[in-house]
Amino acid sequence: MSILKIARLGHPILLQKAKIVEDITSNKTKKIIQDMTETMLDAKGIGLSAPQIHINRQIIIFRVPEEDDEKKIKITALINPGFTKITDKTENEWEGCLSIPGMLGLVKRFSIIQYEGSDMRGNIIQKKAEGLHARIVQHEYDHLQGILYTSRLVDNSAFGYAEEIEEYWKKKEIEKNQSQ
Ligand code: NI
Repeated sequence: MSILKIARLGHPILLQKAKIVEDITSNKTKKIIQDMTETMLDAKGIGLSAPQIHINRQIIIFRVPEEDDEKKIKITALINPGFTKITDKTENEWEGCLSIPGMLGLVKRFSIIQYEGSDMRGNIIQKKAEGLHARIVQHEYDHLQGILYTSRLVDNSAFGYAEEIEEYWKKKEIEKNQSQ
């Protein structure tokens, strides 16, 4: 396994549509997923798409920290993924991206989705997800369409360095919630 370089905002591969994986159960696909896993864990991320490591294929991996078993990190890999919304309800939440280090943006996502894709053995995975889990899948799926969260901001001003967002946005939200 290897830790690979992550493409950053401005690299054209992040704006390309990823190609369908034909050789789902091949060693090559397995190796890509292993490298993505090692790269994501090294970068302390919770999701990664193949285009972010310069591989133009429809593969995403993610972990949902709150769903980890005790002492064990559970990582899901999805090949050729897709999703449908279960309700029209949406949520606004702050998102980061390993391709846009140090920054956060406020993004609207569907609250509940059903996603599907193949695992590396060729089995179909189908799952209903909500909250952070649903958000990560939508964010990573976007990467495969060449879409970054910066083009989905709730408004253009809701984007900045994590420290400033904490200082000027999140504190404000907490105060607002407390005064309600
Ligand atoms: Ni991302």
